[in-house]
Order: sequence, then structure tokens, then C-alpha cells
Amino acid sequence: MEKFYITTPIYYASGKLHIGHSYSTVAADTAARYKRMRGYDVMFLTGSDEHGQKVEEKAREAGVTPQQYVDDVVSGFKELWQLLNISYDRFIRTTDDYHVESVKKIFKQLYDSGDIYKGRYEGLYCTPCEAFWSETQLVDGKCPDCGREVKKATEEAYFFRLSAYAGRLLAYYDSHPEFIQPVARKNEMVNNFIKPGLEDLCVSRTSFQWGIPVDFDPGHVVYVWVDALTNYITALGYGNDRYGDYDKFWPADIHMVGKEIVRFHTIVWPAMLMALGLPLPKKVFGHGWLLLEGGKMSKSKGNVVDPHILCSRYGVDAIRYFLLREIPFGSDGVFSNEALIHRINADLANDLGNLLSRSTAMCDKYFGGEIPEQRAATAFDGELETLAKETKAAVEDHMESLEFSSALAKLWAFVSRTNKYIDETTPWALAKDESRRGELASVIYHLCESLRIIAVLLTPFMPSTGEAILSQLSADARDWDSAGDWGRLSGKGIQKSEPLFPRIDEAEELKALEALMGQREEKKAEIEGIAQIGIDDFTKVELRTARVAACEPVKKAKKLLKLTLDDGTAAPRTVVSGIAPWYRPEDLVDHTVIVVANLKPAVLCGVESNGMILAADNGENDVRVIFADGLNPGSKVR
Ligand code: MSP
Repeated sequence: MEKFYITTPIYYASGKLHIGHSYSTVAADTAARYKRMRGYDVMFLTGSDEHGQKVEEKAREAGVTPQQYVDDVVSGFKELWQLLNISYDRFIRTTDDYHVESVKKIFKQLYDSGDIYKGRYEGLYCTPCEAFWSETQLVDGKCPDCGREVKKATEEAYFFRLSAYAGRLLAYYDSHPEFIQPVARKNEMVNNFIKPGLEDLCVSRTSFQWGIPVDFDPGHVVYVWVDALTNYITALGYGNDRYGDYDKFWPADIHMVGKEIVRFHTIVWPAMLMALGLPLPKKVFGHGWLLLEGGKMSKSKGNVVDPHILCSRYGVDAIRYFLLREIPFGSDGVFSNEALIHRINADLANDLGNLLSRSTAMCDKYFGGEIPEQRAATAFDGELETLAKETKAAVEDHMESLEFSSALAKLWAFVSRTNKYIDETTPWALAKDESRRGELASVIYHLCESLRIIAVLLTPFMPSTGEAILSQLSADARDWDSAGDWGRLSGKGIQKSEPLFPRIDEAEELKALEALMGQREEKKAEIEGIAQIGIDDFTKVELRTARVAACEPVKKAKKLLKLTLDDGTAAPRTVVSGIAPWYRPEDLVDHTVIVVANLKPAVLCGVESNGMILAADNGENDVRVIFADGLNPGSKVR
């Protein structure tokens, strides 16, 4: 079986991810899913880049250790990738033991071979980008990547002898024209970086500790590119015993990266691999950026760029579709909530959604929901069948060159053509004439079969939608090759369901988003306005889990419920809670709640309450008890 190894960059664990970060991951996921469907043995790697000064600072601000800080951030990454349906095979953290072990070895090996040497760094450093720049690389005296101030920095440091590799790199580019994609990026590397002369690269720091120690020189930590780039091989088991996949998967087929780190992947990384005597990746694809009108993604300027919010409002697949369809993969593109809503309405609700609902509704109406067999052909069938075949071939071509947007455009041309087929064949007219029943059957079959093919081809991009359409059609043939095989849909019943993409009222939605952003700002101000407490204050509150053994209303008190709790002690505990407007007593029995166990008793409407249970204001007039089901009664909450 042929293998396919694809990677995303490892994401900096120094903050939250926005929709721009989801871009590379969704693209890599689509490529990985596509290759799996084509029968490849796929390794799809992603991960987190966890060391550095920024993490150290943020952890200090948060009052936690750097490790605690990154653990928390990384669990957020994983949760986001799950939400976005990212089918990674492996997730590497640069704090993983096996990676640390390999990096130490690699650093030492490069030192022993003379490719790393000790020197003094005096340069211009951009702290947010964690990159040193030379005078000539600055744009208007500022960091060429982010446009922020750079500052002079000097320290004793180890250097990687990058300057020695210019000739070999150029020769490699020449003999491997497919190595850097899109081609314009290659010219940029050659003209802007290699030709003016490569400078050696600083690969260690002494100004902070949060990094992999240089074993043979205490005080120095490896930073950052030897630590970061090597993840692509350590994750396969290079230099460690954790995995044994190096021989199988290296060299990588594609490193998918944003354009600002192409330099590191096509100059530094190959040079490092040459120094280690290892083969080079086959392709580095530098995609463009998702921008906001006039600004960087991190400054959201009134647009909602939090992928969690976007997914919860429009569904994961709508977001995946937008990212891949809106912008040709190599270019920059602008993200806006309007553009997203337009795409959802035009392409998903109208084109695809209507095709599905019209087709299934007609199948229901004219054939009782049983997909009929193809009988007498209509004059329009041949063209549709031919286009189905051509579409599959075109999608494949575009996927080979990672042209996601073009692949989807071709697929949507087929969706439109199928919609047009309905207008051409006028099934409602055929239905009035019993002698044309055969043609009507053919039309319905063609619609359903086209939808099956569309769904299969769509699956790498929008996995749940592909699946949902195939299920509605009760289609068995779901594999990639079946999309090139007209007539694989067997005459089973269709399973109608809710529209996949309801139309969005744009004006209303934009208003709602604005309100949401406003609420977030208000919440932020509210929280910031509250006086801080020390951990000693917090630990004065004793929180325990407790099972609701019984529950009843409190007489003459509309809002109160009396709960009898098993808090893990022998004696039942009585707590009175003002949650009657939101819960019936039977809704609570047998659930586990969290109780403030050391609250002084108070008498409420004649009942003595020993503590209170935790609940949250989930919105206006919506109070939710915090359940802790599954935990043993009496567990300490901290
Ligand atoms: N940690 C380094 C990569 C090391 S790889 C050995 C890094 N991390 S990052 O979190 O800053 O960026 C990760 C990826 O997200 C990069 O490919 C970057 O281009 C991409 N993006 C971050 N913001 C983006 C947009 N607004 N638009 C598109 N991609 C974006 O760099």
C-alpha cells in the first residue's frame, strides 16, 4: 500500500487559536481524508509548539507552572480539532518525553559534526514572532512578518551553520522543482533569502528556561527551530523508541505551512536534514493567510473569529467549506462574517440544500420514497452522466495540486448542472402523464445518483455532510471509486430529514453576532471589575459532590426545593435551593451536584438549609444546576 505522510505546523501553545489557525489544519485534514479514500496508508501529524519565553511569561502571569499552562492550552487545541472533525493520526507535543530525548540527541549530533557552534548573538529580535532578523530583512525598520517593533538583543548562543548550505539548497531546488509550492514562494526564497547570503541561525537561548536543556552546556536551552522542526521526524520515532514509523513514513509527502514559515521549512529544515544526512521532504506547500479587512486575525475588529462560536452557529461543515472554497489555497483572502453567511446561503442552503430537498421530496411524492430504477432515458441524462465522470476526474486533478477551492468549484458546477437538470426535465409535468412514468423514474434516479456521487466527492471536505446525504439516500456505495461508476445507487428507500443547511437571515444574523460580541466585551469588563481573591480565600470554601437522594417542593415557597443529599457521610444533608422555577423535584433525584459544605446553616421558609448547591446563570431566566454525575458522593472539588 502506498504511504502518504502529511503534516500541519505545530501550533504555538502560547495562546488561543482563531479561525486562521483552523485554516491549515482543515486543509491538511481534507488532503489526508482524500488520500485515505484513495487507498493510501496515511499518517497525518499535527501538534503543539510549547517552549519559549512567551509561554514562560504567560504562565507567570496566570500564576501556574509553564507545564500546567501548556497542558491547559493544548487540551483546548485537541478539543477544537475534535470539533472541527480533524482526523489526525498523531499529535506531538514538544514537551513529550520522547521528543525531548530526540532533540537533545539531534542537537548534540549537530554540535559534534560542527554544524552547530557556540558564538554570540547580536541582532534584532521580534519577541511576538520569536525570530531574529537582519537589518536588510526589516520592512520600514519593523518585523517583516508582523510589522511590530524589533529590539537589539545580544547573548551567548549556539548557532546552526546555515550559511554553509546555500549552494546545496539551490541545487536541490533546481533538481526538485516540485519541492516548494506554489512556485512564487520558491522565487521569494531564492531572491530574498538565499541570494543575499544566508546567515547562521541562532538555535539556543540563555534568557529563559522553558525549553529543552542543552545537555552539555547548562543554562542554554534549545530554541526554537531545532526543537520545532524536528517534530516531523521525532513523531515517527527518529532518535527515540516511542514509535517505529520513521522508515515507513519519512520523507514526508507534504508539509503544509503558512507563508510566513515557508522560509524555515524550505531553507532551515532542509539544511538541518542535510546536516543529519537524512532525506528531504517531498513538498512544502505555503498557503496564504486568512485576513480581516485591514487587519490581523488576532485583532478581531468586530468580526467573530472564534471557531467555537462559528461552529456552534453554522455547523462545522459550513466552516470547513468556507475556508476551503472562499480562498484559492496559495493566496491570501479576507474573512468576514458576511462572506461566510453569503457562502452558506448561496452554495450550501440554495445550491446543495435545495437539490437534496427537491430530489428527496420528489422521490417521496412520485415513488413513495423508494428510489426507482433507471428506465426510459430522457434527452438530458447522457450529459449529466458525462459531467459526473468529468467532475470526479477534475476533483482528483485539483486535489493532487492542493487546489481545494477549484475542486469545490468543479463539484458545485455539477451541483448546479443537476439543479438545472430538474428544470430541463420538468418532473412535475412528467408526473401528470402516466405514459411518461419511465422517464420520471429515470429523472428521479439521476437526481439521487448525482447526489450520491456529489456526497462521495464531498466527503473529504465536509465529512458529516457527505455522510448525511449518503444516509438519506440509503447508499451503500460510498467509496471513492464508486463515484466514477454511474448506477451504483440501488433502489432503496430514502430517509428524509431536516434541511442540512437552513437559510440564514443575513441582517438578523449580523445583528445577533454584534450583540454576542458586545456581551463578550461586557462580560470581560464585568469579570475584570471584580476584586481578586487569593488562593487562601478560595480554599476556605469547602466544595463537595453529593447525590440527590430525595427532593420535594418547600410548602408555600414557589421558588424553593428541599434537597436531601448523600454527601458521602452517614447523615443525610438537607439543602434548600431556589431552583424550583427551572427544575421539577424528579429531575434532580439521583443526579450528583456540588454543594458548599461549610456554609453556616440558615432557615429558609421554615426549613433549615445546610449549604447550597452550585448552579449557573446560563442566560436570562435560565438557571442550570452544575451536575457532577459519575463522581462519588463526598469527593472534594478544587
Ligand atoms: N510554531 C510555529 C510553527 C512551527 S512548525 C515546525 C508556528 N505556530 S503558529 O501557531 O503561529 O502558526 C501555526 C500555523 O497557523 C502556521 O502555518 C500559520 O501560518 C497558520 N496561521 C496562523 N494564522 C493564520 C491566518 N490568519 N491565516 C492562515 N493561516 C494562519 O508558526
